[in-house]
Amino acid sequence: MQEPQLNSLYQQLILEHYRNPRNKGEMDDSQVEVHMRNPSCGDEIKLQLRVEHGRIADVRFTGQGCSISQAAVSMMTQLLKGKPVDDVGSMADRFTEMMHGDEEAAKDRRMGDLRALAGVSRFPVRVKCALLGFDALQEALRKLGDSSTEN
Ligand code: FES
Repeated sequence: MQEPQLNSLYQQLILEHYRNPRNKGEMDDSQVEVHMRNPSCGDEIKLQLRVEHGRIADVRFTGQGCSISQAAVSMMTQLLKGKPVDDVGSMADRFTEMMHGDEEAAKDRRMGDLRALAGVSRFPVRVKCALLGFDALQEALRKLGDSSTEN
């Protein structure tokens, strides 16, 4: 798929995460694991989380896909480590708002490197790429919620 033209500094940051992804690899002791696939292209990721004392103690991902999907997951994992699980859902909502063109969300410093992806909102077919990791995260949070209500 052709890459959208974004601000060149942001483009560089996206490529940097794509080439040197953070938290990429398998985890042996994850509590929750989610596979997510973009049906329009077949690209996919696996996201693993481990929670301790209500915080994300570790997060890893594997997968293959376009630079936007893989950079977005890498940026997301960077922000997740150490965060209270209760705050993570609102982070996912904020990123989704950004991907739907919300300019306030695009300026929110809590979003870290993910702000480099704000321009992707102008390319509707690529929004799914950017959301792949967060869709996996939302599913992981649902699974964690289910397992805590079962106990
Ligand atoms: Fe497949 Fe981006 S083209 S996730």
